[in-house]
Amino acid sequence: MKQELLLELRDATVDYGGIRALEGVNIRIDEGEIVALMGPNGAGKSTVLKALLGIAPLSKGGVYLHGQELTPRAHEMVARGIAYVPQGRQVFKSLTVFENLELGGYVLPNRADVRGAIEEVFSIFPILKEKRHERAGLLSGGQQQMLTIARALISDPRVLLLDEPSLGLSPKIVKEVFTLIQEIHRLRSIAVVIVEHSIASVLSVAERAYVLAYGKVVLEKSAEELRDGDELKRVFLRTKS
Ligand SMILES: Nc1ncnc2c1ncn2[C@@H]1O[C@H](COP(=O)(O)OP(=O)(O)O)[C@@H](O)[C@H]1O
Ligand SMILES: [Mg+2]
Repeated sequence: MKQELLLELRDATVDYGGIRALEGVNIRIDEGEIVALMGPNGAGKSTVLKALLGIAPLSKGGVYLHGQELTPRAHEMVARGIAYVPQGRQVFKSLTVFENLELGGYVLPNRADVRGAIEEVFSIFPILKEKRHERAGLLSGGQQQMLTIARALISDPRVLLLDEPSLGLSPKIVKEVFTLIQEIHRLRSIAVVIVEHSIASVLSVAERAYVLAYGKVVLEKSAEELRDGDELKRVFLRTKS
């Protein structure tokens, strides 16, 4: 099957004041694939997502959508089909589950479309349907994470950028969340980028992976090769063999 290039970060350098967070990073995401971004803390994983979204400005390099360079502006990216779920399960706690989902539909032209989109995500996340009138702040951590992902789906994106969806969740719930991510991918054939430090769970769903260290891509491989090899251990444990 021919892979269609969807989104690309080309030769990207990002500086936060005097701190160089990324240097010469190349990342490509094809239509419909699941890509993992892995690497130790501070490696630059979140910055890759922020650079793609225009939240972190590039001092060098560019962002390309379908091969066309664009100036990413955070508020326009949803309309361009790029949805972002930042780290930390950011739900509107005092609003209901339903109201949180409605907010995900702000780029849709009319309310009927929003309603339809909410019904569709309810079929993937029945627990959210059950709890639609509850305040989001009362949901469990795993349910809040599901809500942030469901909300991002309302705009019917081509690619979903997820920053550490497993953070702070128990292994059982992590497994559930990853199974749902696979389900979304299967049902909608959208591309998914997952930033993750929990290697085993992400490699079980991803098809391809990048490993970052100190702001650079140090490995790019199929998930299968990474599962079977020992390069990951070397990057994470910083040992040489
Ligand atoms: N807003 C910021 N201001 C200054 N430095 C930052 C900022 N955000 C991230 N950094 C630094 O950039 C580097 C990469 O950070 P980040 O992309 O968050 O890493 P990761 O997500 O892999 O843990 C780290 O050294 C971090 O301290
Ligand atoms: Mg991060």
